[in-house]
Amino acid sequence: MSTTAILGTQWGDEGKGKICHMLAEDSDWVVRFNGGPNAGHTVVDDEGEIKFHHLPSGSLYEHCNVVLGNGMVVNPIVLAEELDKVEEQRGIHPNVYIAGNLHLIMAYHPVIEALERSKEKVGTTGRGIGPTYQDKAARSGFRFWDLLADDFSDRFLSRLEELRERWNHPRELEEIDEQQYLNELQPAVEKISEYEVINVSQTLNEVISEGHRVMFEGAQGALLDIDYGTYPFVTSSNPTIGGISTGAGVPSGRVERVIGIVKAYTTRVGKGPMITEETGSIGEQLREQGDEYGATTGRPRRCGWLDLVGLRYTATINNLTEIALTKLDVLSGFDEIKVADSYQCDGGRRIDFPVSLRDRKKCSANYITLEGWDEDISDCRERSELPTNAQDYVDMVERRLEVPVNIISIGPDKKQTIVE
Ligand code: IMP
Repeated sequence: MSTTAILGTQWGDEGKGKICHMLAEDSDWVVRFNGGPNAGHTVVDDEGEIKFHHLPSGSLYEHCNVVLGNGMVVNPIVLAEELDKVEEQRGIHPNVYIAGNLHLIMAYHPVIEALERSKEKVGTTGRGIGPTYQDKAARSGFRFWDLLADDFSDRFLSRLEELRERWNHPRELEEIDEQQYLNELQPAVEKISEYEVINVSQTLNEVISEGHRVMFEGAQGALLDIDYGTYPFVTSSNPTIGGISTGAGVPSGRVERVIGIVKAYTTRVGKGPMITEETGSIGEQLREQGDEYGATTGRPRRCGWLDLVGLRYTATINNLTEIALTKLDVLSGFDEIKVADSYQCDGGRRIDFPVSLRDRKKCSANYITLEGWDEDISDCRERSELPTNAQDYVDMVERRLEVPVNIISIGPDKKQTIVE
């Protein structure tokens, strides 16, 4: 198959980085289509660990072309630092292509996010994501092309002035040193200008038609989708399959293989109801065994059992053709493992995902309980080598979601993977 999407099915942090990095090896093109530096994909290979915020994981392969799609929001200074890091640490000059029409995170966007108190209200990453997408929708944003135009500085200064007035001259906006910012931006622009700016939709549709292998790398997860997620506690983009159409210009019908990344339990950063959350010792054990601390912000993640109600919903939205079940090794050592198969809500038992916040607040989980296993499973290389209870767990996920589990990840290393 020549087109593959890798999509998060929960609230992000499902372990997409490892699977993307693995599958990127057999890809000619790897494409990001949503989000920006709110994402943090951790890739571990023979040379150590590296965290990406903008760059697709294929960036470490010299044979891969990597694309920053128009659905992304990019902070040019952070992107330039990331490119420098890859070059310095790995001696690689990645083959990056940039959508001219992607939107830019400017100095004032994180400041506005702080003024809107989104960190407190939604638990955002504070990277200016929401305000940048707001500007995109309001048609007052800067696109990558603008950065290269002669009038960029004038337009930036007049936009900053406009925002200062609109916000009634708060100290935080007044304190932005525009000249210092423009001076900082200059080398970043020079760095990024080494890379080609393209019409992403045209290029990708052409290379797909020519039979090149293209992989779409989702950031965040379906329950953080601005339309389908747990609004308002969501991000501002579409991490679901439709995001590929709008954020890279490739119709979702052209994506043959849709791999949903399902972590073997649930985590969430930020606010909002999480129906299977475990706030006591079980949550603590999951957090410690799974090293559940944010790659971008270092925040401890909220942890709990697997939620099949949410997963059935996101499997349908994405039309998953298969599942990669990640971090199964983290469940070793639990006497029993719970899984939510339905919710108990105001009107009784529900198997469909309540999309409204008001409904969700009134729901609790109905659990099924499975027996755990003690063995360290990180050296298993076949599904049949897993302890019987772990095999039963995988079978249960497959059966109840009606999607085959073709990849099982049992440790951060590429070798610690069962592929069927
Ligand atoms: P924002 O994307 O920074 O606006 O944050 C909105 C919500 O999405 C917050 O709950 C964040 O914690 C969450 N979020 C954003 N990016 C990620 C991610 O890569 N992993 C997990 N959660 C994320």
